[in-house]
Amino acid sequence: MTKRQDSEMEENQNSDMTEKKMTAAESGLEQSGMELYSGMKPVEGEGGSLTEEERLKLLADPLLFWYDRNKRDLPWRKEPTPYHVWLSEIMLQQTRVEAVIPYYNRFLERLPDIPALAQVEEEELMKLWQGLGYYNRARNLKAAAEQAVMQYGGNLPADYAGLLKFPGIGSYTAGAIASIAFGIPRPAVDGNVLRVAARILASEEDIGQAKTKKKMEELFLTVMPQDRPGDFNQALMELGATVCIPNGTPHCEACPASGICLAYRKGKTDSIPCKAPKKPRRIEERTVLLIRWEDGYAIRKRPSTGLLANLYEFPNVEGTLNGEQLAQYLIEAGENSFSAEPLPPSRHIFTHVEWRMTAYYVTLRKKKGEQFRYYKKEDILENYAIPSAFSTYLEILKKR
Ligand code: ADE
Repeated sequence: MTKRQDSEMEENQNSDMTEKKMTAAESGLEQSGMELYSGMKPVEGEGGSLTEEERLKLLADPLLFWYDRNKRDLPWRKEPTPYHVWLSEIMLQQTRVEAVIPYYNRFLERLPDIPALAQVEEEELMKLWQGLGYYNRARNLKAAAEQAVMQYGGNLPADYAGLLKFPGIGSYTAGAIASIAFGIPRPAVDGNVLRVAARILASEEDIGQAKTKKKMEELFLTVMPQDRPGDFNQALMELGATVCIPNGTPHCEACPASGICLAYRKGKTDSIPCKAPKKPRRIEERTVLLIRWEDGYAIRKRPSTGLLANLYEFPNVEGTLNGEQLAQYLIEAGENSFSAEPLPPSRHIFTHVEWRMTAYYVTLRKKKGEQFRYYKKEDILENYAIPSAFSTYLEILKKR
């Protein structure tokens, strides 16, 4: 099988007391080392327990100090125009940084500015997006680019509320564009940032809930540095992606925030952040057919609504067909002269559904049916967007 794959804790009196007596070593500062940040004093001093706002307020200096020394060299950071930031943030919502880079570069080569994006044909857009998933995000990008051309001469407005009016731009993306491209102090709270904040505050609120995100946005709005909002947001994301990681042990020894992090101090980095379990995905069995006739292969366009709307696919049917059922299916499609061999099974995980695929390579000796159209391999690979759900079979097609 191949598989692809993307209640608040109250501080009690005792912990206040502990905080008061903590040394720099205990707070994690010594472990983090001078190299991380030498300006942070132990936070548990004079004033007793800190409010969440006070605690987060202590984050900016060590975090920016760390970011200046550890930030990754990423293409969208070279020239952070509103378009570059916007595109990178939409792509990064679905895939890891390393996977996004080639997509980002290829996209900008073809569509270097917002007016070019506004004019691209949907089919070409889908091809540029092929493999990234969440194809509606690309459609929203184009719709938003059209709006930017109509309303702002092909630019995005330097205004948080104005950005929120574009399709596909929510509080996270608006905050990222506002802060990184325009220097407007607005937070950009994604899953990485929520994890960092939940751990620093030892918050046991469910980070999957909209109200938790809203609360964190409000908190960050009040504590973010006015002079470097874009770096602050990116530093938080970067910390979440590289140090304060999910699943597995975070690298607290290398974290500039360990001195103020309550989850670290309480030994709770494993259990925080809290997230309610997701509903199990529906399992769907499908049988995928790579049907070859002469030097062409059958592909078809998916329906215009629902999962993977308007993208292309190899013919496939619901269920797991055995050889006999496959023959029956092909006969009903008008074919009576073919051979078939099984292909490896594969599966693909979507947000709400999982496909478990059985597959056959079918060779037509003669073509009688009219159900499918056949395309040359090179044409398929170059011009038709076939989503990653079929990547196992696309790879087989490439090799045959
Ligand atoms: N993840 C999402 N956006 C990011 C950014 N701008 N920098 C680093 N990681 C990110």
